[in-house]
Amino acid sequence: MTDPLRIAVAGLGTVGAGTIELLHKHADSLTLKAGRPIVVTAVSARDKSKDRGVDLSGARWFDDAAVMAGEAEADVVVELIGGEDGPAKAVCDAAIGAGRDIVTANKALLAIHGTELARSAESRELNIGYEAAVAGGIPIVKAIREGLAGNSISKIYGILNGTCNYILTEMRQTGRAFDDVLAEAQKLGYAEAEPSVDVDGFDAAHKLALLASLAYGAEVDFGGVYIEGIRAISPVDIEFAETLGYRIKLLGSARLTGQGLEQRVHPCMIDKDSAIAHVEGVFNAVVASGDFVGDTMFEGRGAGAGPTASAVVADLVDLAAGRRTPVFGLPAPQLQPLARAPMEAHVGAYYIRLTVADRPGVIAGVTAAFKDQQVSIESMLQRGRSETEAVPVVITVHETSETSIRRALESIGAMDGTVEPPHMIRIEPL
Ligand SMILES: NC(=O)c1ccc[n+]([C@@H]2O[C@H](COP(=O)([O-])OP(=O)(O)OC[C@H]3O[C@@H](n4cnc5c(N)ncnc54)[C@H](OP(=O)(O)O)[C@@H]3O)[C@@H](O)[C@H]2O)c1
Repeated sequence: MTDPLRIAVAGLGTVGAGTIELLHKHADSLTLKAGRPIVVTAVSARDKSKDRGVDLSGARWFDDAAVMAGEAEADVVVELIGGEDGPAKAVCDAAIGAGRDIVTANKALLAIHGTELARSAESRELNIGYEAAVAGGIPIVKAIREGLAGNSISKIYGILNGTCNYILTEMRQTGRAFDDVLAEAQKLGYAEAEPSVDVDGFDAAHKLALLASLAYGAEVDFGGVYIEGIRAISPVDIEFAETLGYRIKLLGSARLTGQGLEQRVHPCMIDKDSAIAHVEGVFNAVVASGDFVGDTMFEGRGAGAGPTASAVVADLVDLAAGRRTPVFGLPAPQLQPLARAPMEAHVGAYYIRLTVADRPGVIAGVTAAFKDQQVSIESMLQRGRSETEAVPVVITVHETSETSIRRALESIGAMDGTVEPPHMIRIEPL
């Protein structure tokens, strides 16, 4: 039998322990698939005394993960610490410096340093596997990079954050408000105590930046992603969406426009009969459209010990078997620094919720503000009537530019009868 693939695991939390458990449980079949055993020779975490629920007896313990990455007897360093800089980055730099391949689940790190790390690794003929970093257990990196290599990708979009999808699903099914559902998700372990990275869209944006690089041969450009989270979505929006035939999802989408690469993460109204509208709860899904293949959709669990370990181990099997592809599909020096298509240039239809005083002249002012920006109204709905309280009025408008809609909403927001700032959700034709 050939030599084992020796791996050093940095981080023994949810994903680290899950990965080691999977490697033990399926050791025999993995050896057959990889052509050689995959053996954990070294591990590192913060607390040596913590019971990880997995057998670490054959592995050397390192207090310092970066030292381990540089010095352990290992062919591959598996970085499962997390964070865009700090120890995770130090581990990757040390691994590359010592001539070891990397496998990581760390989307934040790659979204910021992906191009630089890929260049540095590939210049030393090393590889970085990151299947687990995008949509957890869904093998979407391999699907785009290898399975769809023959296509020119016209668009790629998806539900990339399970926490947000869980919250939006619960809000729709129970009619409860965002804060209430978030608190419950935190209790259930579906949301972090500090939820901002998820609910404000950053995690989805990290993943989108990686998908866009793979799909378009671009340098990873996290800074070019337009990001809006789901905090402003109210039960009223969800109710109106149903009435209008839509469902609200946080989508990440990327495509090439005449002005460059458009990368957006924001809540979208999507046709409630579309396949992706039915992806509920903590599930993720990605749709990629290629010129030869047409639409493809991938769905599965985007997080959790099992699904994420499944993806980490897939990368390890590839390395053990000697299957190597450039990190982002093209050799790193060929990745293009694409221009950013500005969000202001985005064209689409919009859903707008106004909270206005129910008195004569207010709606006339609203329609005049749209007319001034040449925005054409498609429909208008009002729920309830009240002489004393403000009422929600929902307007959908035909395709217009982001600039026009923002200008119209600015002047509506400044009007006398407007009680709350106008709220807008983009309607996404899929
Ligand atoms: N959890 C998921 O479902 C999921 C899904 C996809 C991707 N990911 C990504 O996977 C990575 C790990 O996530 P996780 O959920 O497994 O995190 P986690 O449960 O918080 O585990 C992090 C691990 O890193 C260790 N660690 C922290 N600082 C360290 C340091 N300076 N040196 C050595 N070890 C250190 C911790 O040690 P102690 O245990 O001793 O504190 C812990 O074992 C992140 O990049 C995350 O974004 C996670």
